[in-house]
Amino acid sequence: MVRVLFVCLGNICRSPTAEGVFRKLVQDEKLDHLFEIDSAGTHAYHIGEPPDARAQAACARRGIDISGLSGRKAITADIERFDYVLAMDRENFENLIDICPPGQETRIRLFMEFAADRPEEEVPDPYFGGPSGFDRVLDMIEDAARGLLEDIRRTQRL
Ligand code: 4NP
Repeated sequence: MVRVLFVCLGNICRSPTAEGVFRKLVQDEKLDHLFEIDSAGTHAYHIGEPPDARAQAACARRGIDISGLSGRKAITADIERFDYVLAMDRENFENLIDICPPGQETRIRLFMEFAADRPEEEVPDPYFGGPSGFDRVLDMIEDAARGLLEDIRRTQRL
């Protein structure tokens, strides 16, 4: 079992989108029985809330349903449980390092590291921008999710 956790600030825009995109990719390749996939936020603003309506709409336009997800806060035990803890930006990365059990730091990575042919190192926060920000975020997340699955298939021999 490969455990993958996507992490952003609020767990209502970027990380639930990444969870939905990666889940669909894994399902399409019929590998879902081998994965545990989840998302969380480093802050507690939106615990128990569904994803932002704009994120839901952007995902739905690409055939991805994230309406059933619910916001939760990342905890130290998540870093022990999940093999890949993928931060959307550097602030999320630093917040995860702050709660990381000693010696587990290599599990925490910047998600955009996995995107091929993209200069961006962070997925920008779309929360305070317009609806086009959500499509841009989805394009970036789709690229990184594809690269992530390729990397996992190669390193875990799946
Ligand atoms: P996310 O976006 O980290 O991609 O879920 C945000 C959601 C909420 C807030 C900030 C970013 N907020 O400040 O409430």
